[in-house]
Amino acid sequence: MSKTIIITGASDGIGLEAASQLAAQGHHVVLVGRDPTKLAAAVARVRTESPDVAIESFVADFAVLEDVRRLAGELLAAYPRIDVLVNNAGTVYDKRHLTVDGHESTFAVNHLACFLLTELLFDRLVASGPARIVTTASVGHYRGTMDFDDLGYERGYQIMRAYSRSKLANVMYTRSLAVRLAGTAATANCLHPGAVATSIWAGAPAVAKPVLAVVKRFFMISPAEGGATLTYLATSPEVEGLSGGYYEKNRIKEPSELAQDDAVAGRLVETSRELVGLSSSRGPA
Ligand SMILES: NC(=O)c1ccc[n+]([C@@H]2O[C@H](COP(=O)([O-])OP(=O)(O)OC[C@H]3O[C@@H](n4cnc5c(N)ncnc54)[C@H](OP(=O)(O)O)[C@@H]3O)[C@@H](O)[C@H]2O)c1
Repeated sequence: MSKTIIITGASDGIGLEAASQLAAQGHHVVLVGRDPTKLAAAVARVRTESPDVAIESFVADFAVLEDVRRLAGELLAAYPRIDVLVNNAGTVYDKRHLTVDGHESTFAVNHLACFLLTELLFDRLVASGPARIVTTASVGHYRGTMDFDDLGYERGYQIMRAYSRSKLANVMYTRSLAVRLAGTAATANCLHPGAVATSIWAGAPAVAKPVLAVVKRFFMISPAEGGATLTYLATSPEVEGLSGGYYEKNRIKEPSELAQDDAVAGRLVETSRELVGLSSSRGPA
């Protein structure tokens, strides 16, 4: 049966390849991207490959929380049911900077935007039956730390530290979602897509680029191979009903010890609610 599948970060890389693969399976695919021109090219490609399926798109900059709120409103208005939400948009920043909302940009784009979008679509996903929330985390989460006194690295910012923290947040949030979803037909899982030769590496420091070029060419997998793990978690019957898992190469794997600390995850969720301007989950909505 055709599902309605929303994919963020679908204008390039892993997300675009997953959109292509999911459309080829016959699903109604909704691509979300921040650059209208790039997004239009991505939509054109997927439509050409799969002319018989519905392909739609929405623009939103995940560095702007108001954009994420507007996007959620547009998606809720457009789709009475959402079968799969793929939180895939992600990036790295060589230098520390803040979003218009005042949050460190890596944490904001990679975690807070994904958090806010999922929270705003949560009831629709649950009401849609066996819906799936799939989030592209990373093996980088194993190095991630969580310091609630300095979430945005005012002290000691470094590209991979900030990235690893944001990806740890993806894993923790997925696990906390799975707890909330217990007893419903919906599930939440996350994944590491592999080391994939995509545009994300353009954000690396200039000094690392020659080495990265070699690594990309000889050691990384293709975006299509990376997208396959995402596609697997989005639609494979093998993971039907399974929730709260972190996957690598289509296999469930134990995430970091910190990622499994439910007290820290609970604090992350409460802090994230405050940072995106949602009322506390302990209080009235
Ligand atoms: N590549 C890897 O080896 C690897 C490994 C582990 C995890 N991941 C994760 O995989 C996901 C996809 O990354 P990728 O490797 O496919 O990189 P990519 O080719 O750079 O694609 C990233 C996607 O996210 C979008 N994006 C970035 N910043 C955004 C923002 N502010 N607002 C909205 N969308 C934004 C990009 O939009 P534009 O097209 O406009 O840039 C693009 O569609 C990320 O979450 C990344 O952390 C990648």
